[in-house]
Amino acid sequence: CDGSILLNHLGSERTALESKTLRGFQLIDDIKAELERKCPKTVSCADILTAAARDATLLVGGPFWEVPFGRKDGKISLSTEANLVPHGHENITALIAFFQEKGLDILDLVTLSGSHTIGRSTCSSVMDRIYNFNGTQKPDPSINVYFLKLLRKRCKSELDLVHLDVLTPRTFDTIYYTNLMRKVGLLSTDQSLFSDARTAPFVEAFATQPFLFTSQFSVSMVKLGNVQVLTRPSEGEIRVNCNRVNTV
Ligand code: HEM
Repeated sequence: CDGSILLNHLGSERTALESKTLRGFQLIDDIKAELERKCPKTVSCADILTAAARDATLLVGGPFWEVPFGRKDGKISLSTEANLVPHGHENITALIAFFQEKGLDILDLVTLSGSHTIGRSTCSSVMDRIYNFNGTQKPDPSINVYFLKLLRKRCKSELDLVHLDVLTPRTFDTIYYTNLMRKVGLLSTDQSLFSDARTAPFVEAFATQPFLFTSQFSVSMVKLGNVQVLTRPSEGEIRVNCNRVNTV
């Protein structure tokens, strides 16, 4: 929310292992360059990123929401902070606590996880699930057997990529949730949303009532976009180039 992921220097978040599959930086730079030509020092990189996430969602069939603009860009970016995000191995209690710390509740957790209706993951996130779940030398019993076979075929190395939504990876829909009900969720954090009584009712509701999901997704994205935002005149800046802090 403060564009720290865009800063491109030694030891920045962008250089962390967790950021290795991030892409699209050039697109953000192009949008910024155009904005600086037409309307200099007015739109922050943090706002561009949030608007781009909304527009990308729309382009793949998801809902529209009004983005509250006015975020400032931060001046600090540390690679050590990149690993503060959940990695896909956490249990549901840890996920709930992680979201709660940011002011997001259980409904937000289930809703925002629905963004895994698009995109992909490196196999490193699922290797233990498919070969050695919790040190048992056996696969996770909550994986459908055919899906397990498919994953073992696709994941020859940790760096191979697999779709987060095995059925409709390029469409923003509620198949992600029906997948969970059929035990074909990719990450153990995804699948666990259907195994816990605190989250499973929301999974079922979204799987059967797509409109509920899309309308709640808009609400939860606005909440997510308001986490640790810098807005005061005394904090942050509007970067001229998203890759570096301004030199006064
Ligand atoms: C609930 C906690 C979450 C966990 C444990 C989690 C975990 C992951 C993991 C492990 C990946 C694959 C990363 C890689 O190997 O490149 C991933 C990808 C992705 N996540 Fe999440 N995530 C979570 C929440 C979210 C939220 C809140 C959003 C957005 C609202 C989101 C959007 C995405 C997207 C779009 C991708 C695909 C990226 C790509 O195609 O490169 N995730 N997530």
